[in-house]
Amino acid sequence: MRSSESGLPIQPVYGPEALEGWDPRAKLGQPGEYPFTRGVYATMYTGRPWTMRQYAGFGTAVESNRRYHQLIEAGTMGLSVAFDLPTQMGYDSDDPIAHGEVGKVGVAIDSIEDMRVLFDGIPLDQVSTSMTINAPAALLLLLYQLVGEEQGVPSTKLTGTIQNDVLKEYIARGTYIYPPKQSLRLISDIFKYCKTEIPKWNTISISGYHMAEAGATPAQEIAFTLANGIEYVRAAIESGLDVDEFAPRLSFFFVARTTLLEEVAKFRAARRIWARIMKERFGAKNPKSQMLRFHTQTAGVQLTAQQPEVNLIRVAVQALAAVLGGTQSLHTNSYDEAIALPTEKAARLALRTQQVLAFETDVTATVDPFAGSYAIESMTDELEAAIWELIDKVEDLGGAVAAIEKGFQKTEIEKSAYQIAQQIDSGERVVVGVNKYTLDEEEPYEPLRVDPAIEAQQVERLARLRKERDNDAVQRALDALRRAAQGTDNVLYPMKEALAAKATVGEVCNALRDVWGVYTPPDSF
Ligand code: 3HC
Repeated sequence: MRSSESGLPIQPVYGPEALEGWDPRAKLGQPGEYPFTRGVYATMYTGRPWTMRQYAGFGTAVESNRRYHQLIEAGTMGLSVAFDLPTQMGYDSDDPIAHGEVGKVGVAIDSIEDMRVLFDGIPLDQVSTSMTINAPAALLLLLYQLVGEEQGVPSTKLTGTIQNDVLKEYIARGTYIYPPKQSLRLISDIFKYCKTEIPKWNTISISGYHMAEAGATPAQEIAFTLANGIEYVRAAIESGLDVDEFAPRLSFFFVARTTLLEEVAKFRAARRIWARIMKERFGAKNPKSQMLRFHTQTAGVQLTAQQPEVNLIRVAVQALAAVLGGTQSLHTNSYDEAIALPTEKAARLALRTQQVLAFETDVTATVDPFAGSYAIESMTDELEAAIWELIDKVEDLGGAVAAIEKGFQKTEIEKSAYQIAQQIDSGERVVVGVNKYTLDEEEPYEPLRVDPAIEAQQVERLARLRKERDNDAVQRALDALRRAAQGTDNVLYPMKEALAAKATVGEVCNALRDVWGVYTPPDSF
């Protein structure tokens, strides 16, 4: 009998006995109603498809702005900004540590001037924008708000999401800056700020994607993500917020693997678990506080550099899994991304994959079509049990932060990753084009290359900005930010003043480094 990615048995045949005594009303409820197993909205895609939201960004703001216009032309329904590593780590493009990474895996944003160029010609009251930014999330949100103000868009009209999920950065991605305690304070400050200033903004995208890409099984992906979610909810309540004041604007982000059946079961189990956690553990009354709304990205780690066109088929299956699982927003990977940044044609094909699913198939005609299926309902129930067991393990260790400091999640994920690698090496796990059905000679492929002059251009723009701005005003604003960070005032207010005075991303993050220090992981678990 075959096992699922989570190590659970997949029966060759499921029959009525699988759902003996199984109560669909208790287990499923109606779409759009607690426990939301069938989807967060009553009508799901029957009225409108999910948001087609392609992650993109590279070079300077000029190149990325051009790509956003191309994507909007091609029909993308929401923007999703990829930042380069220096921006994600809170360093300026002219910081020595940034050398060689400027504009490479995302766009370089150093100041309000870059942010203005990034959204040039894009009305911020007509688009929702996701920003994959974590430790410096507050800064990029404020820069977005400042550009919105310049466009005459009131901040109450801004819609979008910041990832702002630093706990998974300690576990699997690495773009953290400050220690956990200060990071949780900053995240709670963002929740409070958005409640007052930007009420339609999704304040966090609690992510399982990167843990999955690091090797986590579906059960680990959901369990460790929801355990991080519990930690954020606890911190926000301890900071003085009522759960229904911020929980409606929490959001999530998961992967979609090629193993479609288990992925559909995974998403359905995740919604039911989160609904129960929020209602029973935190007493959330507002149904929107109990809804697990999520974005999905198809599994980057399952793309192959060999026979890259085969990835078109993988991405289509993964995208179908996300849609059958009830995603709210979807990014489909480009077939060439295992090799380099996507070419314009590859990025367009990725979007076309979603458009075929949305407008040529019938998967949007009815809500949660797998409901009542012997196989999917059994897999959903079994996955739910495995996920709860893992959540309880993290909670028994003292919660997500305590477990991170013990290295629990990282160690469990590394064990799973090692198992997958062994299965591929032995051929037990088939990867078409890699360990089976290979070609003697790979066909030539011309990747997209980022112009190395990008870094010099960005450094020159920074020098000009520093020369032309009022440096006394910048220093005064940064000192005010340091004072707020030393106390308990919400740091986003002085932070916004500093950014408006043309303080750079690096200068603002360094001001907080001066006060809060930086996180250094325990040297060995
Ligand atoms: N019935 C009723 N209302 C509906 C509806 C329906 N069927 N469908 C949509 N709506 C409404 C919603 O209620 C919402 O209105 P509201 O904001 O007033 O509540 C509006 O229409 C928009 O719908 P959604 O909020 O469902 O869709 P969005 O696309 O706006 O938001 C999200 C989706 C998941 C909540 C949001 O957080 C989001 O967009 N996340 C994206 C995150 C992202 O793109 N991350 C990229 C990460 S890449 C990365 O990490 C790096 C790399 O390494 C992978």
